[in-house]
Amino acid sequence: MKILENISLKPYNTFGIDVKARRLVLLEPGDDVPPLEGEVLLLGGGSNMVFTKDYDGTVVTLAHIHHSTFNIQHSKVTAWGGMVMDDLVQWSLDHGLYGLENLSAIPGTVGASAVQNVGAYGAEAKDFIESVEAYDLKERCRCSFSNEECRFAYRDSMFKHYPNRYLILYVTYHLHKEYVPNLSYKALEGLPHDTARQLRDSITAMRWQKLPRPEEHGSAGSFFKNPVVDEATYRRLKAEYPDMPEAHKASEGYKLSAGWLIDRAGWKGRTQGRAGVWPKNALVLYNAGGCTGDEVRALAAAIQDDVKHKFNITLTPEAIII
Ligand code: EPU
Repeated sequence: MKILENISLKPYNTFGIDVKARRLVLLEPGDDVPPLEGEVLLLGGGSNMVFTKDYDGTVVTLAHIHHSTFNIQHSKVTAWGGMVMDDLVQWSLDHGLYGLENLSAIPGTVGASAVQNVGAYGAEAKDFIESVEAYDLKERCRCSFSNEECRFAYRDSMFKHYPNRYLILYVTYHLHKEYVPNLSYKALEGLPHDTARQLRDSITAMRWQKLPRPEEHGSAGSFFKNPVVDEATYRRLKAEYPDMPEAHKASEGYKLSAGWLIDRAGWKGRTQGRAGVWPKNALVLYNAGGCTGDEVRALAAAIQDDVKHKFNITLTPEAIII
């Protein structure tokens, strides 16, 4: 365990925003969670956080370990919450376990994959999560949750409804021994997929075409959630904008493309202050060079107002603004 005082959080958030935390506790596998006083912020990979000011409390995070301690039984793999998610995807394919290939190149950690129920290209973490082991900061004990108890939904879980309460230590994924490609997502049509490795490589390449290179520009991936609307709203918009992509019909309703709405509203490639809208993907806000959290927040608010005005649709950030 490492405890650092008055430390910059720049390396701990993918937007690369330079704020300070009063204290940072970095845990490694096997460490006990120390007593924590005052305000506590649990941080995963920091790939979904926008800091607007210094944090006057204790940030708790798990060491990002590339090869974590695994417990593998049959096709169930238990991984350290601080492990980089993409390393787990790679590891699983190397060990003949399939399913996670569609989640290739998603930023963030294994722990965050459960909190956020990360998803891409027709798969979501919840499709594979068997259970989650967490430390409950309120009750001060370790506890375990089944998939059902996690109450997963689109970019959502029970953990999001109790912010800063559960520190996710381990996630157990139930994978497949046989590779059955999941090509349900439209953009995957025609991609090489003979092996899981090929599909992973194709997906990785496709993602990187649309996202800024982290070493060049910080970002939080998709900044907004895709809005879910009722059928009447979808029909109204589709009649008015025939070029709008088909909505994806989910159990919650019709999922529109936030990226398209922002693009169509004319925001793609624009900057405001030192924050910008990525020229190749309007769903991604990025750090155009030393930006502050307030600049990101102002840009996000301007986009939300404009999309509301033009389409009467409310965009909700996927990223958390602190
Ligand atoms: N589009 C535009 N302009 C843009 C961006 C998108 O017209 O600037 C259109 C695309 O042409 C397409 C549609 O919008 O017709 C949807 O775009 P895409 O297939 O790229 O996916 P998305 O809905 O924008 C979601 C996830 C991504 C995930 C992809 C692929 C959310 C908020 N985002 O994006 O997740 O990788 O699907 O499955 O659900 C993330 O959460 O950080 C993330 C990257």
